[in-house]
Amino acid sequence: MQSVLVTREIFPETLQRLAQHFQVTPNEGDVQHPPGALAGQLAGHEGVLVAGGERIDAALLDANPQLKAVCNMAVGYNNIDVPACTARGVLVTNTPDVLTETTADFGFALMMATARRIAEGEHYLRDGRWTRWSYNLLTGSDVHGATLGILGMGRIGQGIARRGALGFGMNVIYHNRSRLPAEQEAPINARYVSKEELLREADHLVLVLPYSAASHHAIGAAELALMKPTATLTNIARGGIVDDEALAEALKRGTLAAAGLDVFEGEPNVHPALLTVPNVVLTPHIASATVRTRRAMADLAADNLIAALTGQRAPTPVNPEVIR
Ligand code: GLV
Repeated sequence: MQSVLVTREIFPETLQRLAQHFQVTPNEGDVQHPPGALAGQLAGHEGVLVAGGERIDAALLDANPQLKAVCNMAVGYNNIDVPACTARGVLVTNTPDVLTETTADFGFALMMATARRIAEGEHYLRDGRWTRWSYNLLTGSDVHGATLGILGMGRIGQGIARRGALGFGMNVIYHNRSRLPAEQEAPINARYVSKEELLREADHLVLVLPYSAASHHAIGAAELALMKPTATLTNIARGGIVDDEALAEALKRGTLAAAGLDVFEGEPNVHPALLTVPNVVLTPHIASATVRTRRAMADLAADNLIAALTGQRAPTPVNPEVIR
């Protein structure tokens, strides 16, 4: 019988499904192992369900030539060296589609919380500072009718754009590696613009692009300087796309009105400067975190693992070229 390792605690139902096909090594107690330990733990396993963004690199693959499938429980897979997997015939899968709408809901919610200063307001109230009404108490910026900028117009970006255009009458502009076909732009009246125009014109800029060497610090001091001082920036994509130090500086100086961040470079550590500025809403990487969606992600990761190791076609491969 083949063996699979599950790196983190997941739904018992998912473990039970895997156990119908494989010998399963779960992570009982959700133990936090040191980063280098996974290579040794994988010994003797043909498959791994990567449930917590653990790094899968060439050294780990070389130590585990028996490994055939790496199934990520996330849509983003920057934790996995895909070319190294492909070169060794290891199938990589991710969990697209099942989290699109849930993540778009969260992106929109975080953008709204940022624009309308909801977290600041809550802290103000809890701190006992609310003693009377003032005409300018925590005044933010409108979402309805504003210009929504989307950097990275994939499935989730389109979901946010749809919410903005159809629900809030927003004017949608976007920048992406490739332009959407006209029939996808038309229903939301989305206008493709250069990155510079996006930065200059957006009232609310939302980042939804994948992380790669090319998108590292895609938003740094120079990009932030192009944005309107009244604008907001929301990142639900990956830490490292934004230069957190430059962002904290812009927020402190007021050259950017506010930011909403669900992801951080080096998370779960958060740049200390971000913790000292009030005009940022900080959440712990929870954009896909609804019970239903997390269950769907676990199920899809398990479907991929079962298919990959039982000679069937994995539903959502990242490197389908390794399937012969
Ligand atoms: C979450 O960040 C994911 O990539 O699914």
